[in-house]
Amino acid sequence: MIIKPEISGVIARSAHPLGCENAILQQIEYVKNSDQIRQGPKRVLIVGASSGFGLAARIALTFGGAQADTIGVSFEHGPSEKGVGSAGFYNDLYFKKHAELAGRHAINIQADAFSAQTKQDVIEAIETYFEGEVDLVIYSVASGVRPNYQTGERWRSAIKPIGESVSGASISLEKDQWIESVLEPASDDEIEGTLKVMGGDDWEAWIDALINAESIAKGCKTVAFSYIGPELTHPIYLDGTLGRAKVDLHQTSHSLNLKLANFNGGAYASVCKALVTKASVFIPGLTPYLMALYRVMKEQGTHEGCIEQMQRLFSTKLYGVTKVPVDGERLIRVDDLELDPDTQLKVSQLIATMNADNFSTVGDYEGLKREFMQLNGFDFDNIDYNADIELDQLIKSLS
Ligand code: NAI
Repeated sequence: MIIKPEISGVIARSAHPLGCENAILQQIEYVKNSDQIRQGPKRVLIVGASSGFGLAARIALTFGGAQADTIGVSFEHGPSEKGVGSAGFYNDLYFKKHAELAGRHAINIQADAFSAQTKQDVIEAIETYFEGEVDLVIYSVASGVRPNYQTGERWRSAIKPIGESVSGASISLEKDQWIESVLEPASDDEIEGTLKVMGGDDWEAWIDALINAESIAKGCKTVAFSYIGPELTHPIYLDGTLGRAKVDLHQTSHSLNLKLANFNGGAYASVCKALVTKASVFIPGLTPYLMALYRVMKEQGTHEGCIEQMQRLFSTKLYGVTKVPVDGERLIRVDDLELDPDTQLKVSQLIATMNADNFSTVGDYEGLKREFMQLNGFDFDNIDYNADIELDQLIKSLS
């Protein structure tokens, strides 16, 4: 079959397997040629491993100096009558292929991270492949829902402001169109739902399950990813439902840090840069900021993607250092380049002039859209998109 891009709004409905492999190969190439991760972990569990920061972390830790074996948990779907499946489904398969070619273990568990059964399955995989212990646990789940296995209901995250309504623009990546919107403040249920889905609760449940199963190695670390951003984005992010969940995540990092101190380890929240991922294009009002940020940081030569962020995190902050560098709130900061005052001044000046008619020239819409397409395996110059793909055969050859 010939696989074409299909986008509805900001959601990709198709993915190109060969492009997904290409994206992984590019990231492998990048980390091989970067400052290496020294004294890194050898047995790593990544919850949320199939795209964005989690996938980049997996690539950095396997190919960027640590030579880690990995277990990756993700929630993806393969081909069905509905379509070819998600990019993350192919990312898992291709990551495994290249990790194994390099002599590393790469175990994929595609299942709901929030369930106790998945935690149990992972603990069994740790027994089988990691001699019973992990050295690092990365929690990188971004989801809109979390089943409540006790009641059979679901918590839903709602990306909304708290207290007051906020107006902002989103971009339809399907129609290349600027859409003005007003977001009404979240209800108490929506605040609570977002906290349950995106806060620290499940991260803590993972670490507790691993401690109870005696699967935590001496010196084990854990890290989850957060965002703070400049004042400009606070009404929709930091002061909104997602920000509330991130504050909860930060607090969880402190309680987990106490628990892991018993193993001479530590727990951290790492504040990352705003980037185009499957999850972030969903955040209403954030896209104009992303377009301006991309333009300014590319001009200044400071732009980083997920892979640059992760390689920097592991090689300069978490490993090969005598003490993990943190700020006054015990957060690791890899959002330093984004928050540089000169960068932010230029970004706010650009945003002030951006509107429905000029956003694609004032901001880096082209770069943002290309990155979005590439997340799903499209828009690579070296891939023949007219080639016939035998999906069943391809998947069989990778499984
Ligand atoms: P992403 O959408 O690219 O990746 C999310 C991952 O979570 C995927 O591997 C997906 O399969 C997995 N996942 C989703 N639901 C799951 C479930 N029920 N069970 C198992 N796995 C599941 O998202 P991204 O952007 O990499 O986000 C990861 C973390 O980084 C989030 O906590 C996000 O808030 C944070 N972050 C993102 C920033 C951005 O600009 N993209 C900036 C700073 C932090």
